[in-house]
Amino acid sequence: MSWTAHILTLFPEMFPGPLGHSIAGKALNNGMWSLKTYNIRDFSQSRHNAVDDTPFGGGPGMVLKADVVHRALEHVSGQLTNPKYIYLSPRGKPLTQEKLDSLAAEQNVVVLCGHYEGIDERVLEEWPLEEVSIGDYVLSGGEVAAMVLVDGVVRLLDDVIGKADSLEEESFRKNLLEYPQYTKPQLWNDRKVPDVLLSGHHRLISQWRLEQAETLTKQRRPDLWERYCHSKE
Ligand code: ADE
Repeated sequence: MSWTAHILTLFPEMFPGPLGHSIAGKALNNGMWSLKTYNIRDFSQSRHNAVDDTPFGGGPGMVLKADVVHRALEHVSGQLTNPKYIYLSPRGKPLTQEKLDSLAAEQNVVVLCGHYEGIDERVLEEWPLEEVSIGDYVLSGGEVAAMVLVDGVVRLLDDVIGKADSLEEESFRKNLLEYPQYTKPQLWNDRKVPDVLLSGHHRLISQWRLEQAETLTKQRRPDLWERYCHSKE
């Protein structure tokens, strides 16, 4: 069986969306990974299919009900052996390349997408859900974040991207941002491609690229730069 993302959402029609295109979409069509969506609303047992309610203690917004999400999780987990459970929320641990690597090594990843003001905390205690954030900003729901996570995993799966070394070389594995790239023509809008890249001198090219990557990282991402310096020690 191929790597499978099981998405629990109130908006299953959003999927595959961008995941149906480009690299992820081709791999999906080729059976290199699978996508299953589950509508959380199908697990409501109330008369009007309610999935949320007002928060105890007051405050704005609505909270996803524990029993509804619990039934959805039971339904999915009943079909799987030892899946990994992820809950997407801005409160989670930041998503990293390392986390994507570890998710790519799983067989089944269950992704719970939150909405409204959140989810009844007791479901998060009841299930081994790892709370993951894709960044320090708030989205209107977990679906776009789920797409980010799944896209990031799928490109790591065997044979999805041609050259394995293009993955090894990637910036966040080395704690360095990517160096600038150029293609034809050599002169465009009075702008020249750096001479060294046309020199055919591989050692000088590598050296130039490393310098560029280091300068960019130092300027834009002091946090990454610090990790890079430590990892070199
Ligand atoms: N849902 C809303 N905002 C989010 C974020 N930043 N990361 C993951 N899930 C989210």
